[in-house]
Amino acid sequence: MTDRAARPLIIGSGIAGLYVALRCRELGLRPTLVTKARLEESNTRYAQGGIAAAIGPDDSPARHLADTVRAGAGLVDRAAAKVLTGEAPKRIADLVRYGVPFDTVEGHIALGREAAHSRSRLLHAGGDATGYSIEETLKRHVLAAGVEARESTVLRALRPGNRDGPVAVLSAPNGTAVEVEPPRPVVLATGGVGSLYLQSSNPAVATGEGISLAFRAGALVSDMEFVQFHPTAFAQEGAPRFLITEALRGEGAVLRNEAGERFMVDRHQDAELAPRDVVTRAIEEEIARSSIRHVFLDATALPRDLLFARFPSVTSFLLAHGVDPSRERIPVAPVAHYMVGGVTTDLEGRSSVPGLYAVGEAAATGVHGANRLGSNSLVEGLVFGERAARRLKQPVAGGPRPPAKVLSLELPFGEGGPQEGAMFEEIRSRLWEEVGIERDAPALRSALERFGEIERRAGPRGPDELPGRVANAALTATLIARAALARTESRGVHFRRDFPTPRPAWRRHLGVLLARPTRRAA
Ligand code: SIN
Repeated sequence: MTDRAARPLIIGSGIAGLYVALRCRELGLRPTLVTKARLEESNTRYAQGGIAAAIGPDDSPARHLADTVRAGAGLVDRAAAKVLTGEAPKRIADLVRYGVPFDTVEGHIALGREAAHSRSRLLHAGGDATGYSIEETLKRHVLAAGVEARESTVLRALRPGNRDGPVAVLSAPNGTAVEVEPPRPVVLATGGVGSLYLQSSNPAVATGEGISLAFRAGALVSDMEFVQFHPTAFAQEGAPRFLITEALRGEGAVLRNEAGERFMVDRHQDAELAPRDVVTRAIEEEIARSSIRHVFLDATALPRDLLFARFPSVTSFLLAHGVDPSRERIPVAPVAHYMVGGVTTDLEGRSSVPGLYAVGEAAATGVHGANRLGSNSLVEGLVFGERAARRLKQPVAGGPRPPAKVLSLELPFGEGGPQEGAMFEEIRSRLWEEVGIERDAPALRSALERFGEIERRAGPRGPDELPGRVANAALTATLIARAALARTESRGVHFRRDFPTPRPAWRRHLGVLLARPTRRAA
């Protein structure tokens, strides 16, 4: 192994980035962990419901596998899901060893329930502060292990390198202090795209540029049409769209419409615990026919003590916003939540670009199919993070098999125009309105046209110019809309009004690849 190969650059500090960095260090490598904000700021920090693993006496990895496959609507890569569900208990044991304070009942780890899980299998910590507890614990270990951690450092580009990996270009958040790293393995643990949507449960850092930069560097991306929406975020005018965890429904909270009716009962045998996409669309239908822009989550039948002890983050947020959930119904509406697709990888994190890895939400292994089962994402970061760390220790050439269908996308160089906030906000609005919970061809075409115009105006003028925030957002939005337009069916979280049912011919993954860098647009 070359000296450079032993010094992987890990981008992103959620569960996947922290865990890969820690495990690389423990395996004798010298990783550098880079994050654009503070080390602890990531989507992981806000994860509430839990982390899924079949550790209960009535559970097994085979049951967890069956639930994962069922939720994925015919597209789950079975080998990936077998790895996820089979290795999850071992990775949970690692977290216990590191000291994550999982909640217990009578000396045993307590297990909660979420939609589409046939068993209670969600470990949680601090009630609904699961992500926070994991993030803080891993961060402590990363620092104690002597991992070099660089905050406020942004990945600006990935350029051709050598067998060790690509050349990463880094800078300060304001674009100054540009550094060009020598070729070394790069692990994208940059998370998802949620905050590119106007309504989102994600923190502002979740803007998906790991995916767009990998794409610009020639990496295959796939499953980009599958953006998961979470049915229940707080929906009070002027307040943040704070996530109201699905685990609350797992404990018995129910959904009611404006008239007070439990509308999920007639829609699905599992009522409020139906798969997320089903609940999301049902809420949208209720909202469309009501005079208000939300429905209600009713937790008033739950014992007050349980409600406040099990869900301290949610209940304190609600109280601070004037809602006592033990007495009042909570206004809720869907928000963008999780990117199922991303940089296509094999089961060891290797992308189609030598030395470029992706792990966690930024990666697409096919493990979630067309719809992720709740709480499978934190554990995904650990399971595939461990595998990537081991592969980094013993690098061997390899990578993913391309999906059954691959589109090629031309990306002309742009005018290098200013990265204006108004354009960024327009992308967020259009993604929400035109590439949102329900899509159709005219809306997708209109969105694509505008994202293309923005990319042409704000995109880099040539291979040496660094893409800015708006150009990256426009490209990520294009990848989502392009894949959504191509998939002429509805499946999992991807719903087309003009093709409302699944089609057997579409039981396959869809990839997108850069056609070739082209000249500057005329
Ligand atoms: C939730 O707590 O409802 C979200 C969990 C997840 O998306 O995995």
